[in-house]
Parts: sequence; structure tokens; C-alpha cells
Amino acid sequence: MTEVQRIDYPPLPLLPSAPASVAASEFVDLPRPRLDAGLPLMAALARRQSVREYADAPIALDTLGELLWAADGINRPASGGHTAPSAHGFNEIDIYVALPHGVYRYEPALDRLLLKHAVDARNMTGYQDFVGKAALDLVYVLRGSQALGTPPRQRELFAAVAVGAIAQNVSLYCASEGLATVVRGWINHRLLADALRLNEDELPMLAQTVGRPL
Ligand SMILES: Cc1cc2nc3c(=O)[nH]c(=O)nc-3n(C[C@H](O)[C@H](O)[C@H](O)COP(=O)(O)O)c2cc1C
Repeated sequence: MTEVQRIDYPPLPLLPSAPASVAASEFVDLPRPRLDAGLPLMAALARRQSVREYADAPIALDTLGELLWAADGINRPASGGHTAPSAHGFNEIDIYVALPHGVYRYEPALDRLLLKHAVDARNMTGYQDFVGKAALDLVYVLRGSQALGTPPRQRELFAAVAVGAIAQNVSLYCASEGLATVVRGWINHRLLADALRLNEDELPMLAQTVGRPL
């Protein structure tokens, strides 16, 4: 019988967030994605893996636009449908992007980023040694007020499934574009809520590092 392997993540002290490296603007318009680019789905699936070593190299805005569109962008403008499914179409998950020049929230309907906090908060998004070194960290945040009519357990379940779908979209885009990524549940929820300037009803659920491989 094959033994199940348990991966241990050694605890590391959290560093304070760094000041933003360049002036951040309030909105960043994202370029439209190339819809004919990338690997065939089966080839991307064959390359999907978790990576925990990153080069100190930025990611171009074109790539960031495609990454976020793949994650949860609008793929059917007529109906407002997204690339990831969402129970009842609540679309209750916001994607935050921690970049060297600030923390932004992705606004899929407007194809843009909204500046939330002009600080480099990448190293606040987790405990592992590569966190803060890669080009960016995504944080998936549940907007609780969006699904208030749903019983709490079901709301949590639906939100977790939606986050999983978004994270897998990101992983497949990364596999297709030769980027490195890992999803991370090991986060400090309270610290992240402060770093991202979240409201009381917003909960960080999962982080995902994205960068160039070493
Ligand atoms: C919900 C979830 C949380 C995870 N949290 C972490 C984490 O905090 N840190 C980490 O390095 N990997 C994390 N991972 C990645 C898993 O460790 C990884 O998927 C697993 O070891 C299998 O390796 P593979 O993704 O390369 O197939 C997480 C994966 C999932 C689905």
C-alpha cells in the first residue's frame, strides 16, 4: 500500500509589510486577454503542480490581466457570466492582488484593479519562506454580505467551492504560461484582513502565490 505523505511547513516569523516600491495609482486598467493563446487544456493539466521556489522577477501587466481574467473574469459579457462558477451566481469572492506597489482588488466587470492600500503586503499573505519573494500573491476574500439569505454552513461550503474553482483556473493559466504557483491555506486571517483593508463582513479564505519559476 502506498503511504500517504504529509508535507510539513516550518513556521516562519511574519515580516512587517514593506512600503510600496513605486507610486501606486488608484485604478489600473487591465489589457484584454488573448483568447487564442496558451496550451491545450490537456497539456496544461499535465503541467499543473505546486511550486515553492520563485525568481525575483516581475510579471507584465498583460500577463496579470490574463491571469485575473482566467481566474474569474467575465467570459460572457451579455449575461455577465464569469470563468468560474458561483452558487446562485452570488459571485461573492473578491480577488485581491498584493503587488510590490500596492494591494489591489480585481474588478472583473470593469477589467481593472482598484487600489486598496499603497503598501507591499506580499509578505503578509502567509508564513512560508517564498511568500513575499514572488511577483505577486492573490488572496481570495469572501464578501459575506453577498450571500446573506443562505444558511451559514451552506454559505461557507459554496464559498470554498467557488474559491477552489478560481484557484484551479489560476493554476491552469500558470501551467499554460510557464508561471509558478501554489495555493495556500496557511494564512493569518486577522493580519491579512488589516493588510488588505477589509470590512468586517469580508473574510480572507485562501492565498495563491504566482511568479516566475527559479
Ligand atoms: C486548500 C489547500 C490549501 C493548501 N495550503 C497550502 C499551504 O498553505 N502551503 C503550501 O505550500 N501548499 C499548500 N497547498 C498545496 C498542497 O500542499 C499541494 O497541492 C499538495 O502537496 C499536492 O501537490 P501538487 O499541488 O504539486 O500536486 C494547499 C492546497 C490546497 C488545495
